[in-house]
Amino acid sequence: MIELAGLTKRYGRTTAVQDLTFSVRPGVVTGFLGPNGSGKSTTMRMILGLDHPSAGQVRIDGRRYHQLADPLTHIGALLEAKAVHPGRTAYHHLLCLAQSNDIPLRRIDDVLDLVGLAGVAKKRPKGFSLGMGQRLGIASALLGDPRILMFDEPVNGLDPEGIQWIRNLMKRLAAEGRTVFVSSHLMSEMALTADHLIVIGQGRLLADTSMARFIEENARTFVRVRSPDHERLRAALERAGGRPRQCPDGSLEIEDLPAARVGELAAENDVVLHELSHQQASLEEAFMRLTHESVEYHARAGR
Ligand SMILES: Nc1ncnc2c1ncn2[C@@H]1O[C@H](COP(=O)(O)OP(=O)(O)OP(=O)(O)O)[C@@H](O)[C@H]1O
Ligand SMILES: [Mg+2]
Repeated sequence: MIELAGLTKRYGRTTAVQDLTFSVRPGVVTGFLGPNGSGKSTTMRMILGLDHPSAGQVRIDGRRYHQLADPLTHIGALLEAKAVHPGRTAYHHLLCLAQSNDIPLRRIDDVLDLVGLAGVAKKRPKGFSLGMGQRLGIASALLGDPRILMFDEPVNGLDPEGIQWIRNLMKRLAAEGRTVFVSSHLMSEMALTADHLIVIGQGRLLADTSMARFIEENARTFVRVRSPDHERLRAALERAGGRPRQCPDGSLEIEDLPAARVGELAAENDVVLHELSHQQASLEEAFMRLTHESVEYHARAGR
């Protein structure tokens, strides 16, 4: 379990993280979402003791990072995939970490296998592709078989196969009862991966909720219907208590009648339908609405 209480970080006049209080629990994947520059990496660095909080505190299973003996066996993290010595082989990179954390050397082959790098164990990472670099970073995080794992934007720059692999790995780690904390600025990715969500904007907490509840509260669902005779259809829907909304493309949107009822009403009134579909507004829209006020760097329109 990771616990943050009133965590704050100021760099000169910039407040990167402001009064963050939340817990990351075991057994689920917790997504850490926020627009670029919202303070995700700064928060993760403070969890690992790489940055000192200006105020507040972080506890990992009740202790500060530097109070953990052999920290890699408690918490494994991927913050920056390029943080490896380019001239040291993948095997030797892991060997160095294992020896300094009292980790049995057989774990090195295990994790290289697990991340699919066994074939390039004797190669130097300077020739690695982006995806291979991420995999080596993940191998380092898993090396100490820790109960807590933290990944900062692990899917950045990966191909669909790599993204799916990381997604499944995180789910598996959580299913084993571990604490999995993963950051992203993409709602669509988190919707497929996370069970719980922490959303921040300009360093402040905006939401701490289960993914199911976030979807329930934010994903507007409606029925879209299209007909060459939409005036008659509209009248029939209104008689049944619906409030159809006319869209610029000629279709009607109905939030208060289910698709089946709309189809039945059309049939009863001999109205031909060209489309009858169930729609869900994207979570990306909900995330943008939530964070809109706090986006650090807006693109200027028209440029
Ligand atoms: N070492 C530093 N010195 C000064 N300002 C910093 C430093 N590190 C981060 N910041 C500032 O703190 C804010 C939060 O940055 P951070 O990198 O934590 O955001 P992020 O959510 O990880 O963004 P991204 O999605 O782009 O990775 C930004 O305004 C950034 O410019
Ligand atoms: Mg970041």
